[in-house]
Amino acid sequence: MEAKQRDVFILAIESSCDETAAAVVRNGRDVRSNVISSQIDLHTLYGGVVPEIASRKHIEKINQVIEQALQEADCDLKDMDAIAVTYGPGLVGALLVGVAEAKAISFATGIPLIGVHHIEGHICANYIEHKELEPPFVSLVISGGHTHLVKVVDYGKYEILGRTRDDAAGEAFDKVARAVGLGYPGGPKIDMVSKKGNPEAIDFPRAKVRDGEFDFSFSGLKSAVLNYLNTEKMAGREIVTEDVAASFQKAVTDVLVEHSMNALETYGFKKFAIAGGVASNSAIRSSMKEACLKKGIDFYYPSPVYCTDNAAMIGVAGYYEFIQGKRSDLSLNAVPNLKLG
Ligand code: KG4
Ligand code: ZN
Repeated sequence: MEAKQRDVFILAIESSCDETAAAVVRNGRDVRSNVISSQIDLHTLYGGVVPEIASRKHIEKINQVIEQALQEADCDLKDMDAIAVTYGPGLVGALLVGVAEAKAISFATGIPLIGVHHIEGHICANYIEHKELEPPFVSLVISGGHTHLVKVVDYGKYEILGRTRDDAAGEAFDKVARAVGLGYPGGPKIDMVSKKGNPEAIDFPRAKVRDGEFDFSFSGLKSAVLNYLNTEKMAGREIVTEDVAASFQKAVTDVLVEHSMNALETYGFKKFAIAGGVASNSAIRSSMKEACLKKGIDFYYPSPVYCTDNAAMIGVAGYYEFIQGKRSDLSLNAVPNLKLG
């Protein structure tokens, strides 16, 4: 009789931006704990993430967050098979806190270390609640720092099909929100006020990138919104924030849906998963769902807590690296512009 496989426990650490997070993940898809200490209130005062403040807060919080993650999982460090940590892309000072912490624990305990790509983590967030999801599939990663259309060839094997040429989708949401006076973080606020607006009120541009069928560009759309606001102000006309937000959100959604559906068709995939902070946007979720239904494509998306930055997703990605035998040594360093694939 075959021996029962031993459980694999991963302690995961994430500190690439403004969330200090730690999690314990069992056998790749069973999240035992997922602790997130958000700095959002602090950065809201400045209208965006201040890198120096983010690094300092990570240092203050990281030990406590890790201890809590172990406690909530009812585990001890010695139960861990590996420590997975985000080493890029992200803010260098912020990443360094997590990487240094993970290396210190690994050095002190002898537990293997695994460096994880942040975007890979976002994609892997889909595995947590969709146990049946396996590669290959297409994934759209839309966050504050990234907009990537990715072919997930296998666990740990990715091919980039398209990316943004300028602003990330989340960045566009945040900038437009600031321009219409909604404040930071803009994405969730635009999402909320758009529910009361008319998405057809203003015809904002849907940018095409000439030499990249699956690439994105959002800076023109952002400028179009700013121009619209200026023109209306100069003419003394009333600006309906809800309509501006809803029309902007529709322009972003249309481009994301069109590119994703074209990529699925071109490459012949029948499975599609969205990921990243912007993937919790209600209009994007429902438009993607509708488009996938029409085309007979299985559509996957994580719960909002697994869309925004978290360590559980890093634990999932770390598990698949672990079982493939990948390990990092103590020379692991933060790589702010780390490439995927
Ligand atoms: O994945 P994430 O937490 O961090 C990065 O890796 O960048 O994404 C944060 C981004 C922010 O730009 C935020 O405004 C956006 O995700 N976001 C949203 C929504 N919730 C968060 N954008 C649109 N609609 C939302 N509901
Ligand atoms: Zn992220």
